[in-house]
Amino acid sequence: MAYSALSHVPVAVPINNDSLLPRSQFKGNNVFFNDKLRTSGLSLDFKIANARSKGRSVVCMSVQQASKSKVAISPLSLEDAKEPPLHLYKNKEPYTGTIVSVERIVGPKAPGETCHIVIDHGGNVPYWEGQSYGIIPPGENPKKPGNPHNVRLYSIASTRYGDSFDGKTASFCVRRAVYYDPETGKEDPSKNGVCSNFLCDSKPGDKVQITGPSGKIMLLPEDNPNGTHIMIGTGTGVAPFRGYLRRMFMENVPTFKFGGLAWLFLGVANSDSLLYDDEFSKYLVDYPDNFRYDIALSREQKNRNGGKMYVQDKIEEYSDEIFKLLDGGAHIYFCGLKGMMPGIQDTLKRVAEKRGESWEEKLSQLKKNKQWHVEVY
Ligand code: FAD
Ligand code: A2P
Repeated sequence: MAYSALSHVPVAVPINNDSLLPRSQFKGNNVFFNDKLRTSGLSLDFKIANARSKGRSVVCMSVQQASKSKVAISPLSLEDAKEPPLHLYKNKEPYTGTIVSVERIVGPKAPGETCHIVIDHGGNVPYWEGQSYGIIPPGENPKKPGNPHNVRLYSIASTRYGDSFDGKTASFCVRRAVYYDPETGKEDPSKNGVCSNFLCDSKPGDKVQITGPSGKIMLLPEDNPNGTHIMIGTGTGVAPFRGYLRRMFMENVPTFKFGGLAWLFLGVANSDSLLYDDEFSKYLVDYPDNFRYDIALSREQKNRNGGKMYVQDKIEEYSDEIFKLLDGGAHIYFCGLKGMMPGIQDTLKRVAEKRGESWEEKLSQLKKNKQWHVEVY
């Protein structure tokens, strides 16, 4: 089972023969793929990802491609529908799923806890990549005594086939909402977030009330299998992108053979907070022409003004390429912290002005063409 063998063993690997860097953020090396995974590419994975996490770039490396064999999926009837499934289960009659696994997926130095949670829906709550489920946490809503809690939405981090590739599970990437008293700075568990704590504390076999699936804005447009998809995520906002990338690079989907470009920009606090880094790093090795991966580590790297390195600083670095790709019809997706959008819009506006373009016009064109996809919370 994916994630069952996660570990946090620090190792050191040489990069370009000139340095040794700790590699504490890697959590299991070959647990994300099925038995077909060849391990020969792994030392290169280590080098690339490790260098990236330190803000270095790896150049002139002779890349021996690792196995590109893809994972078999079933049932293929999940490809048949012409429209995405929507609202199959409503708040009044949720589906009762079962927790399969809960794994902490950040290292010890990450500020806060993020868990990868797999839920068994028995094939009864099908969804497409980019959709969300609602979860109704157990217990009574303190604001409406006698009533259940309000539903909370979670982006699904797996493909429609789930992490066990049989169409029976959905995975979440959940950040535990912890409340700190502003005066004492201490945690006040009585005020901690209800649903995220319920999910992160749950155990295999526990029951969970599911609604949905919901959402159309983050669906992966598949009309052009050679299209470009620029994904910008902060923290758990990586979830839908993990689903897209698995569909593009990990699964053998007979009706979707991706030959375009997927470019992931991810902003997290530090190298211990990196999410799913080992599977993304493997795509870099296996599909160097189809995948790009840029990371902003806000608490380990500085931007060119000496401030925190945020994902928008990475976007600025590559703005010319990004603008050209958008002009060529690329889709751009944003998922994660609501707070990132003003900074990102400011950056894009500044870049557009430098290029003598009007950002307002460009944005309205992107929206009109359905190239602009935002899901922030
Ligand atoms: P709540 O109980 O709703 O509390 C919210 C916040 O208020 C918490 O930070 C809590 O600490 C604080 N708080 C609680 N009580 C008090 C109090 N008395 N005084 C002051 N503060 C208090 N989240 C993810 O982790 N992963 C995802 O993939 C994800 N996807 C999402 C997708 C969508 C479309 C949306 C809309 C949201 C998504 N979220 C996701 C956020 C998620 O829905 C929840 O909002 C989040 O988990 C917090 O819910 P909770 O029940 O734990 O916190
Ligand atoms: P920081 O918390 O250092 O200010 P995580 O869930 O690992 O904390 O990831 C969320 C990431 O988003 C962090 O690196 C966080 O930085 C960063 N972040 C916070 N505010 C913004 C913002 N306004 N724009 C972009 N990134 C942000």
